[in-house]
Amino acid sequence: METTSTNLRAHVEVMGRIVELPLVVGTEQEVAIDGQQLRSETGAILLDPGFGNTGACMSKITFIDGERGILRYRGYPIEELATGAGFLEVAYLLIHGELPNEVEFSAFEDEVRHHTMLHENYRRFFDALPMDAHPMPTCAAAIGALSTFYQGDLARDDVRTHVIRLIAKMPTIVAYSYKHSIGQPPIYPRNDLGYAANFLHMMFSTPCEPYRVDPVKARALERLLILHADHEQNCSTSTVRLVGSSNANLYASIAAGISALWGPLHGGANQEVIEMLSRIEAEGGDADAYVARARKGGDSTRLMGFGHRVYKNFDPRAVLLKHSCSELRDTMDGHSSRLLDIAFRLEEIALEDEYFIRRRLYPNVDFYSGILYLMLGIPVNLFTAMFALGRMPGWIAHWLEMKQDSSTRIGRPRQIYVGPTKRPYMPRAERS
Ligand code: CMC
Repeated sequence: METTSTNLRAHVEVMGRIVELPLVVGTEQEVAIDGQQLRSETGAILLDPGFGNTGACMSKITFIDGERGILRYRGYPIEELATGAGFLEVAYLLIHGELPNEVEFSAFEDEVRHHTMLHENYRRFFDALPMDAHPMPTCAAAIGALSTFYQGDLARDDVRTHVIRLIAKMPTIVAYSYKHSIGQPPIYPRNDLGYAANFLHMMFSTPCEPYRVDPVKARALERLLILHADHEQNCSTSTVRLVGSSNANLYASIAAGISALWGPLHGGANQEVIEMLSRIEAEGGDADAYVARARKGGDSTRLMGFGHRVYKNFDPRAVLLKHSCSELRDTMDGHSSRLLDIAFRLEEIALEDEYFIRRRLYPNVDFYSGILYLMLGIPVNLFTAMFALGRMPGWIAHWLEMKQDSSTRIGRPRQIYVGPTKRPYMPRAERS
């Protein structure tokens, strides 16, 4: 990828030796020290656990300003996309770089529609798994296994078709994993329905009675998917890029991304939020006591759905989702509505609490998304798979960008070794 070359330089002194390193400036004026020559010039590396100060690539896909709560896909504000666009339109934008016109969009939508079915062998694939299998490893395995059906095409390097297949088949895989877990037959996709409506149909219809997709719910789902569609170099996207940098195929790279997303500090947090809200409800609804516990610190008592590595003011996705929760409140059942009240109360307390203010902890995307998923009838253990469904175009866009970037090298961080220094091997019998 081309760099914005400047005359600016950083001077770094390492053990008495000063080296001059170029600075790179992005289109939004973010500045980076280009450290590619740091080790060869000084012998030192940059130690940066969690990569909080390390840029692994340059990207044209998503811009985030965590201080100002800004999120844009390809330059378009998330607020405008979430209210004006459909999910497939946003997927096209992320993958192709531009919004589609009518002709381009209907061609893309048609292609996606015609790849929604899974090979019939997948019935046996799902049957081989326990009924209570968590959908995330099921989805990771199913996406990885897709590559086995298209091995010939992989060799011919037909990336575009693989992209369409992944976008098209992910809803079918997520819905199949749900149907398997409740002992119902998988429901085939309906190509006359839109992307979100078709997903709701595969989730909730059965062969024995008609099911009508509620358009309000389909629209709410589209919005959720759009808000999840990309978030630059987060843990799962970096995983997709890292795996892909070894020339692993797209399916294998995305299967790895799904596994990374599963963790409770990443996409798994939406499930944890509902479990936390349900626990508070079961214990009598005392939000103050829970915040007091979270304030004590430590990983086990965190306020789930709060805090973010990048957003230090507000997460614009959480603002939009909170608004959706209020809008759709009338359609919620009693349980979801009670959880929403607890969430509002938790947010209110935390935003006035010294502990959360000092650490700049605000609700993130996962704080309100779970309540909306509950409202849609999505079971709690499927929430993270819903995040994966939405994130698919982002992962694909980053994988493609990484492949097309001539500066891409296999991802291979270094380390500072702090183990024992050299010592002689001693035969087992001689060890005390
Ligand atoms: N509740 C209570 N304390 C917290 C929380 C929280 N949710 N988040 C961070 N802290 C505290 C943490 O204990 C630390 O305090 P101290 O400085 O006294 O040790 C300080 O805030 C900084 O936390 P950190 O863990 O160093 O921050 P990080 O940038 O490494 O982690 C995070 C970001 C999102 C993993 C973290 O805020 C967290 O665990 N949040 C809860 C899980 C969650 O909601 N995850 C979803 C993230 S958004 C969607 C996604 O990316 O998948």
